[in-house]
Amino acid sequence: MPLTKFRGIVVFNLIYMTEKKVEFSYEEFNDSSELNEADALLLNEARKVTVDAYAPYSNFHVGAIALLENGEKVVGTNQENASYPVGICAERVLLGSAATLFPNVAIKTMAISYNSKEVKSDHPISPCGMCRQALLEYETRTEKPIRIILSGQEGKVFIINTVKYLLPFAFTKSELK
Ligand code: THU
Repeated sequence: MPLTKFRGIVVFNLIYMTEKKVEFSYEEFNDSSELNEADALLLNEARKVTVDAYAPYSNFHVGAIALLENGEKVVGTNQENASYPVGICAERVLLGSAATLFPNVAIKTMAISYNSKEVKSDHPISPCGMCRQALLEYETRTEKPIRIILSGQEGKVFIINTVKYLLPFAFTKSELK
């Protein structure tokens, strides 16, 4: 227990602290054959759309597809730039298109995959920090959780039921009012 001195006397500090834990659960599948038909189809489309990525600098081609509440599908791929920070991730390309083509329509499920000639695409990747923030804004704005399906071109598949799980302690619009 930490000690401090008060008027020359050593006293114990009282600690008013509770330890908190953040936990979440997600589903793990050995491969896409274990998914239901709709999810398997969506993941397959995310895997295929990686060919449309523009990623000459990283050679890391990311593809994302969203199934919207109105039944429409919107895709996105990463678009890099010679000025590296200008490049945009597949997820945010998708969100910009979805919000513009179908304003205020919630996203039910988003599948994200990748392909690369430098690394094996045999395990799921998950969205970067900036994309998590952007995804959370979308989820908050449309008031519907976004299911996220993550997988490489083959191998394990993760399904996460809400973006909230990916970004604990998030900064949201509720702080600004
Ligand atoms: N990237 C995405 O598009 N989405 C992700 O979830 C992770 C990373 C892109 C950004 C960059 O073009 C390349 O992948 C390597 O970081």
